[in-house]
Amino acid sequence: MTKTLSEQLKETATYIQSKGVKEVEFGLILGSGLGELGDEIDNPIVIPYEDIPNFPVSTVVGHAGQLVYGDLSGKKVLAMQGRFHFYEGNTMQVVTFPVRVMKALGAHSMIVTNAAGGVNTSFTPGNLMLITDQINFTGTNPLIGENDENLGPRFPDMSEPYDKEYGKITRRIADQLKITLQQGVYMGYTGPTYETPAEIRMSRAMGADAVGMSTVPEVIVARHMGMRVLGITCVTNLAAGMQANLNHAEVVETTERVKADFKSLIKETLKN
Ligand code: 6GU
Repeated sequence: MTKTLSEQLKETATYIQSKGVKEVEFGLILGSGLGELGDEIDNPIVIPYEDIPNFPVSTVVGHAGQLVYGDLSGKKVLAMQGRFHFYEGNTMQVVTFPVRVMKALGAHSMIVTNAAGGVNTSFTPGNLMLITDQINFTGTNPLIGENDENLGPRFPDMSEPYDKEYGKITRRIADQLKITLQQGVYMGYTGPTYETPAEIRMSRAMGADAVGMSTVPEVIVARHMGMRVLGITCVTNLAAGMQANLNHAEVVETTERVKADFKSLIKETLKN
């Protein structure tokens, strides 16, 4: 017999709590090359994904594949070092399951991060971008299927996917730290191919500033449950047609370069 979502959530949350995880305030999803922030968590409890019931095993290079719980900037955080992508063959329900788990453990907010391609012609590789809104271009939705009314409504409002107040705080902190912080719309594709030049022109015409292969499903599920969301993109490269060939090595290289700014921006924002 297959378990219901709420049965799975109970089982997974109970397992994580058995490892010593107590109340969670903020869930953190650390994207490609940005996982190092998890190493700065104090009094850490580390749980490998492979040990967690109902979690799949992450396959992408540059992703550690573990949860780290502890204190960061005086807040109780549960960080994912590595996320599950749709292009790995996971269902959208699996991709977003960790967000459900964060909420089940008490998280009222989620900070989601990613590496993405710049579409806005005024962006340069290495820029950080506050996500102000998103376009679901994955062709599907993680909420398709039976709705559990205990988790959220059948037809969730998406008029403010990213919390305006959190965004304001992050912009103020970036100012104080003299970190360039772009802002804009994140458009989520499935991947794993990067976009063609024509697709990038389309994305720009549709209002996108950055394109990536994650985040959109997680944010939908977080908003379904009423979590407040802060999203930060690391623009690792310019999208097709704006620069020479794209490759994953460049994505990793760029995140390496802006890691320090990224980490201090998130830590100071959490503090505030
Ligand atoms: Cl150009 N596209 C997508 N979809 N994801 C990316 C990217 C581009 N650059 C980094 N991640």
